[in-house]
Amino acid sequence: MSAINYEIRTPGQGEGFAEDADRPGDFDALRPLPRISIHSFCESDGMQRMMDRIARDRRMAKVNLRVTIGGTSAAANMFSSTPTPNLIILETDAEPKNLLHELTPLAEVCDPSTRVIVVGRYNDISLYRDLIRNGISEYLVGPVQMPDMLAAISAIFVDPEAEPLGKSIAFIGAKGGVGASTIAHNCAFGISNLFSTETILADLDLPFGTANIDFDQDPAQGIAEAVFAPERLDEVFLDRLLTKCSEHLSLLAAPSLLDRAYDFERNAFTPIIELLQRSAPMAVLDVPHGWTEWTRAVLSEVDEVVICAVPDLANLRNTKNMIDALKKLRPNDRAPHLILNQVGMPKRPEIAPNDFIEPLEIEPIAILPFDVQLFGNAANSGRMISEIDAKSPVAETFSQIAHIVTGRVAMKKVKKGGLGKMLGMLGRKKA
Ligand SMILES: Nc1ncnc2c1ncn2[C@@H]1O[C@H](COP(=O)(O)OP(=O)(O)O)[C@@H](O)[C@H]1O
Ligand SMILES: [Mg+2]
Repeated sequence: MSAINYEIRTPGQGEGFAEDADRPGDFDALRPLPRISIHSFCESDGMQRMMDRIARDRRMAKVNLRVTIGGTSAAANMFSSTPTPNLIILETDAEPKNLLHELTPLAEVCDPSTRVIVVGRYNDISLYRDLIRNGISEYLVGPVQMPDMLAAISAIFVDPEAEPLGKSIAFIGAKGGVGASTIAHNCAFGISNLFSTETILADLDLPFGTANIDFDQDPAQGIAEAVFAPERLDEVFLDRLLTKCSEHLSLLAAPSLLDRAYDFERNAFTPIIELLQRSAPMAVLDVPHGWTEWTRAVLSEVDEVVICAVPDLANLRNTKNMIDALKKLRPNDRAPHLILNQVGMPKRPEIAPNDFIEPLEIEPIAILPFDVQLFGNAANSGRMISEIDAKSPVAETFSQIAHIVTGRVAMKKVKKGGLGKMLGMLGRKKA
């Protein structure tokens, strides 16, 4: 089944005023939607017109909306080869007895985090219950009015009682200079690009942060404005501080200036992390190496922690201490993820990866080789590894890291990105 596809962009002037069918006051209680992606499948002209109107509503300004003319099978077809968005809105003519069956092929390709609103033709309470029980977020009986659709979307994504939308992942090095920032930036880019997920990268290294260099950006404002003016912090203010790096990636950059000292209270970054989680499905935090009140607070607040280390003794000791300390700070969470970086640097005596891992009792999610040319070129040209050389084993490893830290795949045996035989040789030499 072929599907016609189009993307809806910014509102035209003078369009989108309330129509007669809208009940006055319907929109008053609705808040702007966060940076989510929505893909709507419309079978009827009426539904398509309604989605066109929704696209022009100011509360949708940050939403990435696509509309496809087609139904359930068009959706299943499309998502068999592309990742599913945060929300699928599906119009269907199916009869109640066939509807669940018709949804099965879509369910099979849908990411567990994707929410689904079904617009059907039948006002049937047992069908409604069946759908909700099977994980559908809402069932609306068509023709749906625009305020009702907006309210249904809001109920899922801006309900103050609901779980925060976004997931947060902090990257920190076991020492300075181990490549934690490089890994955080490539990983944030990977998540945004591979899954078309709106991602915000926050550079918490205010005096020395390099995200601005790595993405070739020169923003005037950024995270400093946010952390030093917490009383002004809201979605509108945040929007002004963000710099767009690529289609789905925004940067909350560090000033990287030494005109002042950067001392922070323990919870200085808490409101920012909360706001990021309300604003986008994914926040990646680049935390500088250090162990202060505020870094400990950040590491205890985020959903996932990734420790980056190079295979030497100081890194091993620090990684071990950090894992133990994080266990106390996050008693009910999984252990942090570990990434070994700069493995195989010529002439440097190293601890073999297997010996490094053993006392830690955790498997690394990735092992990245030392590749001064590839990483140096990327850093100097303000681009990510996958932009420089998408087919390189290192780019493949970053893709795996993006999958694992977002919970898209369970961790299998670590692939040794670009190392292959060499790793085996290193292991043997040490033994
Ligand atoms: N696997 C690697 N091979 C070669 N150079 C690397 C590798 N990973 C990082 N680098 C380089 O190491 C330097 C320090 O990286 P950075 O990400 O700033 O570390 P950190 O944030 O841990 O202090 C940068 O110049 C970066 O390009
Ligand atoms: Mg850094």
